[in-house]
Amino acid sequence: MKIDNLKVNGISEPLGYSFPYLTFSWKTTVTDSSTTLLLVSKDKDFDNIVVEKNVTAVDNQITINNDFLQPCTRYYWKVQIGEFEAISLFETAKMDQSWTGQWISYNGKSQNSVQFSKEFDISKKVLSARLYIVGYGLYEPYLNDEKISNEYLLPGYHSYDLVNSYQTFDVTNQLKQQNKLKILTGNGWYKGRFIFEGGQENIYGDKQKMIAELHLKYTDGSSEAINSNKGWSVETTEVQNNSIYDGEVINYKKAKSKLEITTNDDTHLLTARHDLPIVKSKSLKPKKIFLDENNDWVVDFGQEITGWVEFGLSKNISNVKIYFGELLQNGKFYNKNLRTAKQEFEINNNHENHYVRPHFTYFGFRFIKIEGLNKEQIQSVRAYTLQSKIDETFGFNSSNRKINRLVENAQWSQRDNSVSIPTDCPQRDERMGWTGDVTIFSNTAMYNSDMRAFYANYLYNLSLEQKQMNGSIPFFAPYPKIKPFKGINPFLVTNGASTWGDVATILPMNLWNHYHDKGLLRFSLPIMKGWVDFVHQRDISHGDKHLWDFDQQLGDWLSLDNGNISIGATDPGLIASVYYYRSTNNLARAFDILKEPNNQYHQLARQIKQAIIDKYFDSNELNIKPLTQTGIAIVLNHQLYPNDDAKCHLISQLKELLSKNDDALNTGFIGTPELLHSLADVGQDELAYKLLMREKYPSWLFEVDRGSTTIWERWNSLLEDGKISGTDMNSLNHYAYGSVEDFIIEKMLGINLTNVNGKYIVRPHYTNVIKMISGSLETPNGQLKIKYSYLNNNEWSIDITVPNKCTVEFIRPDKEKKILTSGSYHLQK
Ligand code: BGC
Repeated sequence: MKIDNLKVNGISEPLGYSFPYLTFSWKTTVTDSSTTLLLVSKDKDFDNIVVEKNVTAVDNQITINNDFLQPCTRYYWKVQIGEFEAISLFETAKMDQSWTGQWISYNGKSQNSVQFSKEFDISKKVLSARLYIVGYGLYEPYLNDEKISNEYLLPGYHSYDLVNSYQTFDVTNQLKQQNKLKILTGNGWYKGRFIFEGGQENIYGDKQKMIAELHLKYTDGSSEAINSNKGWSVETTEVQNNSIYDGEVINYKKAKSKLEITTNDDTHLLTARHDLPIVKSKSLKPKKIFLDENNDWVVDFGQEITGWVEFGLSKNISNVKIYFGELLQNGKFYNKNLRTAKQEFEINNNHENHYVRPHFTYFGFRFIKIEGLNKEQIQSVRAYTLQSKIDETFGFNSSNRKINRLVENAQWSQRDNSVSIPTDCPQRDERMGWTGDVTIFSNTAMYNSDMRAFYANYLYNLSLEQKQMNGSIPFFAPYPKIKPFKGINPFLVTNGASTWGDVATILPMNLWNHYHDKGLLRFSLPIMKGWVDFVHQRDISHGDKHLWDFDQQLGDWLSLDNGNISIGATDPGLIASVYYYRSTNNLARAFDILKEPNNQYHQLARQIKQAIIDKYFDSNELNIKPLTQTGIAIVLNHQLYPNDDAKCHLISQLKELLSKNDDALNTGFIGTPELLHSLADVGQDELAYKLLMREKYPSWLFEVDRGSTTIWERWNSLLEDGKISGTDMNSLNHYAYGSVEDFIIEKMLGINLTNVNGKYIVRPHYTNVIKMISGSLETPNGQLKIKYSYLNNNEWSIDITVPNKCTVEFIRPDKEKKILTSGSYHLQK
């Protein structure tokens, strides 16, 4: 590689996207110190250059003004460093061009699936063809019976009531003289049953609809457009019941009926997409096929994934039904923890051969139960993962098999919960973009993968929702405005709360720490400010105490320190005030980075800190009542204590709490990502490692020992004997507790990101509990690689590769600092 990985706003060759800012980035191993030249042109040969910039930054990216962008235009861009160069492209969509296509739908009762179609002939030679399109609930576009693009579950999940994100496809090579466009649509998030607590149907609309414009440019210089309008046809399809939670039924015997087209001209919400495509990324063969204790055929794929199965169905097989689940219980297929989500795929055959797969659903599963196929036929069933297209950036290995599995589990839960939006879980009747889970896990996620564009899209949806909420942030985004129904907790569908709402500042700041993308940070600034100002206003209206110690909160969600009470024992007011402080600090920092005037947020942060100290400490004692692991961890981690004596006191209290608890943690969503960091930061490495390496319940390795392949929602999702602890809220695929991976990366491997481009601090907390540990992180300048091997007698051998143009400040075991410039080093101590 010399120069590659060219991306615009974190996306390779984005076609038909919205570009609210323009950040160009690339990777390079060119060591030449001459400056980098960035060129943007309207033609391949770079004769018509519209941007020319010298870039000196070592992080190989630049944010430029987007005011030159024109609609429906392809731009080529080039990075030149000395004798090396690399070229990529991006293309705008319709921008503010008005739509000539109309929304089309149908008359009569609501259907599960309809297909819109249009036949047309072309008599001239086509130079280029672009299809601008969106269909709801979900759609799959076909041209001449060939699927357009490798994307699934189009148009992804976005705040459909606030924006209609359309896609752009290059169909130049798929066109013939006689053509047929077919748009297959289903229910999806738009009109299928969705939202926890039983859900609702028709949240955004009760009928499928679509809009399209096919822009054709001919070689003779002329052009025309094929628009969706009354002239299209619509009919029902073989796809019957379908929804995100319940799965899909395909009935090939069902006769199709023609419906009458209706039209609508309200196109004001149409905006070019921001989201990454959802694609099939991995395929898995059955690992084990067996008859379970109920005498049902069950397949174990060996890994819990998000996706579906596909197979060839021969004409002699009439009906097949497949159930998807996460686990076995008593030797039987089990799916009761899906709550009301059915997760089923059913096919009724018409005595013909078919290749079958679902279209408008996805499943979270490791096991499937199959009715209607024999063992031999089952062997050809393949599972496919569905995930937003995200590049992975972190490799890990160690001499400890269980720690390796723990890291893999966190990475799998991340993949499985990256389908269009970051979800809490992929299987039960939830799968929503819970904000708190992102607050907790996003730092870890950004080591594992290039999450820049995925999270930017999430922030975009958050910003739309926030504008409806006076600065507040919903518990989940997209945030459907459902009418309250029986069983729904009114708190969860009304107001913002600490930690969940703080995603508004924590996500942008994590993005900044990992990518240093000024365009994205500037885009995020109003979201950050909106949230902090919202909390500040609430604070003012409750006496201006610089605390958030009122309002209902979710506390230390799912901790073990308060019996069955989910919010745990830590004072929710303390947690909320600490997060108020964190958010205010993040905002103050963002103002500084962007050189924004009127930064009054440093002062507000100082006031919050003082108020926390005044309320929760007295002169020489910590006064958190009741005293909890989480409470101490967050106060220590954010240095919210009055002086060093108080800090020492906190440390000894934390040690005492842990020892009283058999050296086990009892933390929930808030304490878990902070506890090990806080111990290691105050010189308690041994205790932190004890928690990490613990195998007895509760611990991470307890899960690993029970055969987990993803991270569980609860410490006791399964009990000692492998029995499920309950079915109410119990997923085996929730990434929050997988946030311990950033402890492994930042403390064990010692990788610390800095505010200065191209500089890393590697400050490992040496331990011999694992004899060998290694990691590699993709950086804009190549891999940062580190490997420690414990020899004996407190001696280590260390291999480290510093990427091109970067420096590493390396802290040796004897605490001596070494500045390493790019290259490979073998150190021994
Ligand atoms: C979700 C969580 C979420 C929580 C908050 C749960 O049902 O699965 O991950 O953050 O609710 O209430």
